[in-house]
Amino acid sequence: MPEVTANETISALAGEHRGVSIELDAVTKTYPGQPQSAVADFSMRIEPGQLVMFVGPSGCGKTTTMKMVNRIIEPSSGSIRIDEKDVLSINPHELRRHIGYVIQQIGLFPHMTIAENVGAVPRLLGWDKARTAARVEELLTTVQLDPRTFAHRFPRQLSGGQQQRVGVARALAADPPVMLMDEPFGATDPITREKLQAEFLRLQATIGKTIIFVTHDFDEAIRLGDRIAVLSERSQIEQFDTPAKILANPANDYVRSFIGSGSALKRLTLIPVTSAELGPKAEGAPCVDEGATLRDALDLLVLNGGDRVNVSTADGRVTGSLTHAAISASLDTVAAEHRPVV
Ligand SMILES: Nc1ncnc2c1ncn2[C@@H]1O[C@H](COP(=O)(O)OP(=O)(O)O)[C@@H](O)[C@H]1O
Ligand SMILES: [Mg+2]
Repeated sequence: MPEVTANETISALAGEHRGVSIELDAVTKTYPGQPQSAVADFSMRIEPGQLVMFVGPSGCGKTTTMKMVNRIIEPSSGSIRIDEKDVLSINPHELRRHIGYVIQQIGLFPHMTIAENVGAVPRLLGWDKARTAARVEELLTTVQLDPRTFAHRFPRQLSGGQQQRVGVARALAADPPVMLMDEPFGATDPITREKLQAEFLRLQATIGKTIIFVTHDFDEAIRLGDRIAVLSERSQIEQFDTPAKILANPANDYVRSFIGSGSALKRLTLIPVTSAELGPKAEGAPCVDEGATLRDALDLLVLNGGDRVNVSTADGRVTGSLTHAAISASLDTVAAEHRPVV
């Protein structure tokens, strides 16, 4: 097949800066000298703008599956299409400039400043200095690193969490329609990690990229994903569905063991308080913000020991109240299609 440049294909779609579809069809990877394939017959369609989490134990083939999408690893057989175009027909170097890639080891260039790191791909794509500089400034601000403070520092002068933010900014630099993220927050401490997750969710709500995000942490998968693929050995898909549906109806014992204990509580983290049936305002009851989840409301109920918790708007107006029973009932009645709560 003749090679076409990615400029004619994927970047044309990036014009509107939104995600595009990714489709893997019967993809298999057998490493040389290995008796068994690392990825066996993997098929999945990811819709434009979806954030799909690959979750599974170490060694199950998550990274191998992901790296075939940007051709860091070539499949042994099968086909991969991005926006309906066969990635094997695109020059791999070109392809990679249009796919953002974030890894746990971050991989910032140590001898380049933060600004140079973030501007690396735009420079390769031939953007002029002013456009690159403006984009770098915009992105550093987006990932909450003040350009005046950070642009001229070197990676070693930043904390792990700050470096990870630079990694995300760099991957977003050329506004790629697709992002691949391989345990990007895995090396950070729990508090930094939670912050990065929250920032990332807010960011994705505005940019709407198509993202494959690898993690071995099921709670991270629930928190971030539009959909989760629970993977076992050789990247076999045990279940591929929304977090709420997987929690409510695990396909088998393997998936159940991944969810672990507390699945009802985990489901409550996915449901905004505004989705539950509210009762009348309760005098003297504690208040939860209407942006909170039912898990937050339950937490407050348990903490206060009362029967009801009020729900209030940002300016303090109470819109109603919740009981234990209303919270439980919402597990049955609320449709399972919630997007993650930002
Ligand atoms: N370059 C390689 N050569 C041979 N085997 C590999 C190579 N990379 C990974 N593997 C093997 O392929 C399997 C899947 O690895 P990987 O995709 O890294 O899993 P995960 O990301 O889920 O931890 C593992 O058994 C691993 O040892
Ligand atoms: Mg891996």
